[in-house]
Amino acid sequence: MAAPRFHTLEIAAVRNETPDAVAISFAIPEDLSDTFAFVPGQYLTLRADIGGEDMRRSYSICSPLNETSRRTVGVKRIEDGRFSSFAQTLKQGDRIEVMPPQGRFTAQIGGEHDYLLLAAGSGITPCLSIAKSVLAGEPDSTVTLLYANRNSSSVMFRDDLNDLKDRYTTRFTLLHVMDEEVQDVEIMNGRLDAEKLENLANLGVIDPKAADAIYICGPEPMILSASAAMTTLGVDQNKIKFELFTPAPGAKPAPAKTNGTPVNGAKHGASVEIILDGARRTIEVDAAQDTVLTAAMKAGLDLPYSCAGGMCCTCRCRIVEGAATMDENFSLEPWEIEAGFTLSCQARPDTDRLVLDFDAQ
Ligand code: FES
Repeated sequence: MAAPRFHTLEIAAVRNETPDAVAISFAIPEDLSDTFAFVPGQYLTLRADIGGEDMRRSYSICSPLNETSRRTVGVKRIEDGRFSSFAQTLKQGDRIEVMPPQGRFTAQIGGEHDYLLLAAGSGITPCLSIAKSVLAGEPDSTVTLLYANRNSSSVMFRDDLNDLKDRYTTRFTLLHVMDEEVQDVEIMNGRLDAEKLENLANLGVIDPKAADAIYICGPEPMILSASAAMTTLGVDQNKIKFELFTPAPGAKPAPAKTNGTPVNGAKHGASVEIILDGARRTIEVDAAQDTVLTAAMKAGLDLPYSCAGGMCCTCRCRIVEGAATMDENFSLEPWEIEAGFTLSCQARPDTDRLVLDFDAQ
């Protein structure tokens, strides 16, 4: 299968969601409808030249499955965020490069399930897509959404959520948690952390053990805290899904060995053969200076990537010869590492010769 490529899409609409967040809808031409087919929970990677720099960022799709001619993402401006600030300036009719949907934080629609969605801030975007798609596509399923924000002015997609509440009165439960605005029900005030979730479960407001699937999306501390609470409450780990786009400052897991070969230390001048779209190209990588991705960029090779931080898996490839070590890995699962996959944005050669196949799935 070919590695993902960017396509230029026209912006069909831009809607202000909060003072610092917009929903951007891309028109999907008919000839790209298969390419941009998605599973609820996936994200799009946007690419733009900002101040002369090629920048990419991933944003979750908030569209329901039945929105066929558009894909909408929510973008919240973050402090000093060059791309998220740029995104606030986009307008209808602008054209921008977009990579087809990717990601594993997904809900396959079909059957009968009870879903528990835990979202904070802009983490609502994939949860909104999942909630809308489940409620429309699984007539006997229920969705409970616990949504944390500072106050009501920072609630994204308020109209969409209220619409779901009105339309699915018996199958959709929406609970707001706010830490800068007092709500009538005391338990809903404060931060969405482990203690709050355990209290809500003990009071019977949520029932994580009864849920068939739990999706957690938000800043890393919230994800870690919520996951820990679910474990404490006895939830089966296989039922929990979470996605990390921005790790907390200082977060740095131990280096991972990518194919079981002992780490030999940085290789100066390793020869790395890249297989991409059926073509082969060899570059030299000084592992003390570069990852495979940064060396490839210096060599003018256009490898697929998005976060460049070990989080999104867009740069995944398979080691077919040699060995490499990743600086960080927030996204590859143990079976993938066992099968020889690595992240080129994190991989540094351990051997004089390394062959990486980007077409391997
Ligand atoms: S580009 Fe996101 S993990 Fe490498």
